[in-house]
Amino acid sequence: MKLRRILKWIASIILLALILWVLIAYWTSTNDCERYSAVPNNLMKAIVHCEYGSPNVLKFEDVEKPVPNDNQILIKVRAVSLNAFDVYVIRDTWLGRLIFGLRKPRDTRLGRDVAGIVEAVGKNVTQFKPGDEVFGICRGALAEYSCAFERALVMKPSNVSFDEAACLPLAGLTALQGLREGKIQPGQKVLINGATGGVGTFAVQIAKSFGAEVTAVCSTRNVDLVRSIGADHVIDYTKEDFTKNDQRYDVIFDNVCNHSFTERRRVLTPKGICVLAGMGGAGVKQGQAIRRIVGNLFTARGLSSFTDQKFAQYMTKVSKPDLIMLGDLIQAGKLRPVIERTYKLNDAPEALRDLDGGHARGKVVITVKQDNKI
Ligand SMILES: NC(=O)c1ccc[n+]([C@@H]2O[C@H](COP(=O)([O-])OP(=O)(O)OC[C@H]3O[C@@H](n4cnc5c(N)ncnc54)[C@H](OP(=O)(O)O)[C@@H]3O)[C@@H](O)[C@H]2O)c1
Repeated sequence: MKLRRILKWIASIILLALILWVLIAYWTSTNDCERYSAVPNNLMKAIVHCEYGSPNVLKFEDVEKPVPNDNQILIKVRAVSLNAFDVYVIRDTWLGRLIFGLRKPRDTRLGRDVAGIVEAVGKNVTQFKPGDEVFGICRGALAEYSCAFERALVMKPSNVSFDEAACLPLAGLTALQGLREGKIQPGQKVLINGATGGVGTFAVQIAKSFGAEVTAVCSTRNVDLVRSIGADHVIDYTKEDFTKNDQRYDVIFDNVCNHSFTERRRVLTPKGICVLAGMGGAGVKQGQAIRRIVGNLFTARGLSSFTDQKFAQYMTKVSKPDLIMLGDLIQAGKLRPVIERTYKLNDAPEALRDLDGGHARGKVVITVKQDNKI
């Protein structure tokens, strides 16, 4: 009896502490939008999002130019490519608020994939010097300048444009690392579901460079596009469901996850691997995304433990060797970024609106002009 009372007390205290923590976290989760301490001679243009919402909340503003710390590199940004992630970050959803800040977005700056010229380096940086042309991953790339760490940057091949190099980081790494999760081998039959977005267009080409026979799944308007980047077979998902045909695949690289596990197992070979890469791109709605994430989390692990067919989940990692490999592939002509459209920095809201539509063709790129001419 006494023990039960003590346990009740402990549970009440934990509950109270939790409520208090949520309240404090909510009221303290603000951002620096009201507190810019920029001085007139140290300004740059950048895209800022102070609130959650649609791409309409984005502002093109003067902000303080970043200063690299001892381990950072200051990049004069020449091009940025957008990812589905940049759309998820600004959306007003409860899942987004839990991850990116309860009341307001903690990080007000957008953009991850960058290509540009090294302007200055911190004292511990050994691999880069001012003037080097680089590409990689940073925070707040949608700006005239941005800081990155050495481990997330590599040299840009000389025959590759800044726009092309900026397409590579997140989408290229996701495609490359996902196909590795699928243990892709030459001669295997590989199906790419969601083959025409940022990740898919790289996955088709990288799978081909590994010597696979590639089937691309896309909508009618993109059939010619996937053929042009090397797909051997194309399935138009508006006319045919790939899980209903008789073909079997050694690897399914699934960017959409819009079929049940049973349906996908039907078209996997007995020891086939389905790589759960994404949830449908920038256009996916919160409810859909949560259903797909939860399904992946619980069912994938369970099924993979009990059958020879595997469902592999992974998070893309920033990897310097993989960035170098992507650079080599593009330099050797084995990879060609598909660029849907390029925009100027001040048109970033329009670019994100396009991506938000959910039917991007390849990558959307923001070009940042030299000499501060936006
Ligand atoms: N695992 C990781 O760590 C990681 C890292 C980065 C990205 N991702 C995920 O990867 C996914 C793809 O990203 P992305 O940048 O390629 O997105 P994206 O550029 O927005 O492309 C999404 C693609 O999905 C296609 N699509 C939409 N509905 C479809 C359907 N029913 N069947 C087949 N294809 C369909 C669209 O093609 P159509 O126009 O032809 O419909 C579009 O090309 C996202 O969900 C993203 O979150 C995962």
